[in-house]
Amino acid sequence: MAAMNRFERWMVNRRTEARARRVLAAVGPHVPASAASQVLELGSGRGGLLALIQERYRPARLVGTDFDPVQVVAARAFLTERWGKIPPTLELQAADALRLPFPDRSFDLVFAMMMLHHVEERHLEYVRRPEALREIRRVLRPGGTFVYSEIFRRAEIRDSLTELGLVRRFLRSGWRHDLAVFQAPSR
Ligand SMILES: C[S@@+](CC[C@H](N)C(=O)[O-])C[C@H]1O[C@@H](n2cnc3c(N)ncnc32)[C@H](O)[C@@H]1O
Repeated sequence: MAAMNRFERWMVNRRTEARARRVLAAVGPHVPASAASQVLELGSGRGGLLALIQERYRPARLVGTDFDPVQVVAARAFLTERWGKIPPTLELQAADALRLPFPDRSFDLVFAMMMLHHVEERHLEYVRRPEALREIRRVLRPGGTFVYSEIFRRAEIRDSLTELGLVRRFLRSGWRHDLAVFQAPSR
């Protein structure tokens, strides 16, 4: 795993808000309203989804993390330009999804959009992803919701989440990617 070069960043940051809008429209009905209090996004990139989550749910706490500090700076600039200033309830920080700097059971809702394959040395591998999924499970509160989209090794991700005790609430499995909602047990 390494930080992206400028071209890769440009590629992943294109149309970020349009993608985010489609994601929220699809998963919205499957995310309980109570889930929108303490919210974490992993690999938040340029911040397109963070903007929409903030505007739609106004969470008590919204945290956007990205492994790449340049992406965190880009998100800060994008959100500041959008709102004039970033609300105090929204935190942006550089963090590795493999070692999340949060206590157990911190979040009601966790998003990981097109980022899980980035934790691998090579995107097609399935070596570090189980570790990242365990981290997500660790920071989810009982009954918490995990929303993700992914292009590679999709069946393995679903199986790993099921092995971790999460229950699938929604799955749209297209030819290009999965978009899914899983829920942690309530105790
Ligand atoms: C394909 S982009 C997706 C960005 C955004 N989620 C979206 O859908 O537009 C993947 C993002 O994950 C970040 N990333 C890569 N490895 C990561 C890791 N280990 N932990 C957290 N974020 C990571 C990248 O820096 C990049 O911003």
